Amino acid sequence: MWSSRLVFILAATGSAVGLGNIWRFPYMASDNGGGAFVLVYLACIAILGLPILIAEVLVGRQGRRSPVHSVVTISEASRASAAWGLMPVMGILAALMILSFYSVVAGWTLHYTWLYVQQLLGSTRLEDPAGSFGALLGNPLQLGMWHAVFMVLTVVVVALGVEKGLERAVRWLMPALFAMLLLLVGYGLTTGHAADAARFLFQPDFGKIDGATVLAATGQAFFTLSLGSCSMMAYGAYLPRDNISLPRTAGTIALTDTAVALLAGMAIFPIVIAYGISPEGGGPGLIFTSLPHAFNDMPLGSLYGLLFFALLSVAAWTSSISMLEPGTAWLSERLGVGSRKKVALGLALFCWLLGLLAALSLNRLAHVKFGERDIMGLLEFVASDLMLPLGGMLIALFTGWAMDRSLLRGQLPEMPEWAFTALRWLLRVVAPLLVLAVLLRAAL
Ligand code: PHE
Repeated sequence: MWSSRLVFILAATGSAVGLGNIWRFPYMASDNGGGAFVLVYLACIAILGLPILIAEVLVGRQGRRSPVHSVVTISEASRASAAWGLMPVMGILAALMILSFYSVVAGWTLHYTWLYVQQLLGSTRLEDPAGSFGALLGNPLQLGMWHAVFMVLTVVVVALGVEKGLERAVRWLMPALFAMLLLLVGYGLTTGHAADAARFLFQPDFGKIDGATVLAATGQAFFTLSLGSCSMMAYGAYLPRDNISLPRTAGTIALTDTAVALLAGMAIFPIVIAYGISPEGGGPGLIFTSLPHAFNDMPLGSLYGLLFFALLSVAAWTSSISMLEPGTAWLSERLGVGSRKKVALGLALFCWLLGLLAALSLNRLAHVKFGERDIMGLLEFVASDLMLPLGGMLIALFTGWAMDRSLLRGQLPEMPEWAFTALRWLLRVVAPLLVLAVLLRAAL
């Protein structure tokens, strides 16, 4: 059990804030036309993200067990079909798939942290950021090694079930990351390109909104709030019941997460533009090829670079823990209490191997393509943009239709009747139809 509401908020925020905000959001915005993407993304956070976040945490807190058993227990109590228990299995699978490539990218941030340590100790500067990044991607050994280091860090916490470490990391290091972003936004103002960046991010070109943009923005909304993967459900199971308003808590988490993403955007794009990189089509390397320019330029830049990538690694870490937790909770519940460590290790090994394939797709296996996507791109697309929204849709349907109304109401006692009814219809009809429309539109 989390010791308080604050600890839950910290853990859930730790899950939400991560590479999704600082690595993925800017590059997805860059690849999908800027303002149009951001607008749809914000709408998705408000209309889909918030209600589904409430729903996920609520199911966890009601069920009190691993995601699968929580859903089964609630189904039984509501006399609904036990087949609902399959839904979290898909979420757990999505979380593990995400962990596999996420850990590779977190490995990049560890590598950059190390580069700045060396730079501080006097080795040469990252004069050619694009070249250095390319060199990293071309080096399977280095990619695999950092990916392994990150996976070990993740599995240690999950195996031990350490609440304290998580609490400390989020309570102190998250605000530090926030401060670093503010510093970079400040730097962006001095480049003279902040207005261009704001225009790129916030002036939607409606001509650019097509099925693919909307799907990408929807996927990003689920990804950044850790939804559809049962991560929030797993954390909700440890949330004490008394006096904790789920809507308020979910609101706090969503607001913080969105603020971090927008700050990251306003930190990165002025630098991108100032150094003559095109804001469009930046791809997954965007922050690694742009930010080092700024750190080269700033006084104490190496130190800031080190701090930035170290803090980003911590943010990634508190997220990856929440990807491994649902599967570990489920399987160790099935296999018996003593099995937690072995289960966590086994799942991490599986994710490491799958991630290795993703890492190899950046070099040796670059020729393996699915349409225009390589293995890593495919893994990211299927898990983040398809499975998470689908999982979120099922959770909305589950809480809206299958779960007994009085159970649902019992979890939301402080909500006025009109708000509860509105939330319930959002979950029953609006959210599922929207996700369905997004998926169909992208498929057609
Ligand atoms: N929300 C995390 C981030 O933004 C990623 C995540 C996705 C975490 C799915 C858990 C489950 O980095």
